[in-house]
Amino acid sequence: MDLQLSERVALVTGGSRGIGRAAALLLAREGARVAVSYRSAADAAAAVVAEIAAAGGTAAAVPLDLADHESIRSAVGSVVDRWGRLDVLVSNALDTNGLTLWPPTAFEELAASSWQPFLRANVDGPYAVAQAVVPVMRAQGFGRIVLVSGTSALDGQPFAAALATAKAALHGLVRTLTKELGPAGILVNAVLPGTTLTEHIEAVLPAAARTARESASPIRRLLGPAEVVPTVAFLGSPLNTGVTGELVRVSGGL
Ligand SMILES: NC(=O)c1ccc[n+]([C@@H]2O[C@H](COP(=O)([O-])OP(=O)(O)OC[C@H]3O[C@@H](n4cnc5c(N)ncnc54)[C@H](OP(=O)(O)O)[C@@H]3O)[C@@H](O)[C@H]2O)c1
Repeated sequence: MDLQLSERVALVTGGSRGIGRAAALLLAREGARVAVSYRSAADAAAAVVAEIAAAGGTAAAVPLDLADHESIRSAVGSVVDRWGRLDVLVSNALDTNGLTLWPPTAFEELAASSWQPFLRANVDGPYAVAQAVVPVMRAQGFGRIVLVSGTSALDGQPFAAALATAKAALHGLVRTLTKELGPAGILVNAVLPGTTLTEHIEAVLPAAARTARESASPIRRLLGPAEVVPTVAFLGSPLNTGVTGELVRVSGGL
């Protein structure tokens, strides 16, 4: 299946590792020129760019901090300056802001000093990224926006109130932008991974928790990033002409 991404330009936020890295590699393999954004891991982003180049693709690393809207505008501007357009936004970066599932943070212990910066980065950040790309997409009469959310936003997740709340807020953005931007040729969707075995999750997920999730899953295992991103790539591609406003779970049924 040809996703028709050749000559298209994609920006993947948080492309330096995990699901974002897998999305960047796949979009590049499908022919897109890919801007791989990172916050601090310049080396990791450069390695993704080198991997894409070694495979004959085109990519560039761009710094972008969800908590710094000027850096967001500057990153989007640099992509458009470099390649003249921006067709696909994969809004994937997550700033954990020190909040982790392990050790868990009980809701009663979730201080406003943690909650507020988390929501600022992970709601205001994707808002600012989308707001920076939409004028470019509108001028092109074409755009695809894929927000990477998570099943916790629909199902709830103990000890992850800030995460579930931030992701659920993005669903309102998806539904609204779908209606506001559809007439301009811009389709907007969210992909909701379940627990996905990125390097980070492999390192921090306790064995017992992993086993419990695998047993609860209809497919009796957890997905890897490469299994999540084909849905991201399809929704973000010109081949997708009719799916917009959807919250698509990619979780092995969990
Ligand atoms: N893995 C899972 O189990 C899972 C499950 C459900 C949903 N998701 C969602 O999938 C997406 C990717 O998750 P992941 O597990 O692949 O993440 P990850 O491996 O932790 O990678 C996070 C990425 O976000 C970037 N980042 C962190 N803080 C940032 C900031 N302030 N500004 C800009 N970029 C920042 C990181 O850049 P640096 O490397 O430079 O720090 C990195 O590229 C997230 O939206 C997450 O919520 C993941």
